Amino acid sequence: MSVRTIHLLGSPVLREQSSAVGTVDNEVRQLVTDLFDTMRADDGIGLAANQVGVARRVAVVEVNDEPSVVLIDPVIVERTGQVRGEEGCLSIPDIFGDVDRAQRVVVETTNLEGERIQLEASDLRARAIQHEIDHLDGILFLDHLSPLKRRMLMKKWKKLRKGKTGFLKEVSPAVARS
Ligand code: CO
Repeated sequence: MSVRTIHLLGSPVLREQSSAVGTVDNEVRQLVTDLFDTMRADDGIGLAANQVGVARRVAVVEVNDEPSVVLIDPVIVERTGQVRGEEGCLSIPDIFGDVDRAQRVVVETTNLEGERIQLEASDLRARAIQHEIDHLDGILFLDHLSPLKRRMLMKKWKKLRKGKTGFLKEVSPAVARS
């Protein structure tokens, strides 16, 4: 198991447009494994590759007991409904905001075998998928909030970050579970 370092808000890689993967090789498969390990260690329900410093179009989602989702070069091909719900982000700990998202999505993605497949998700799983695909385009959930709400949360973030340097967060499974 390999838990990677998470990049926090302020790290430029979070604002990068990630590049397409194309062929799924061992490096990509290892990245997916590490994303799952890191996400679980930090108690998340989704994680994108640029959050561990790799600007490639790869992300994972795992919500409750539903089957986990591997996203490689994902494209949302269908959106239905709209729901508002609270979101957080492993790259912006302790900051939460309500975001409007499609209630249900159909996503076309490459799986670990390198095949293009379609999968359908709704509710929290659909929300997490939309949040992660945003990451691949350098978009954070904060960008969907009103300017006023965003300013408020940024003020809180600066307070939380006071005295801290750098934009990296070491994740330890033992700590995350306590
Ligand atoms: Co996030």
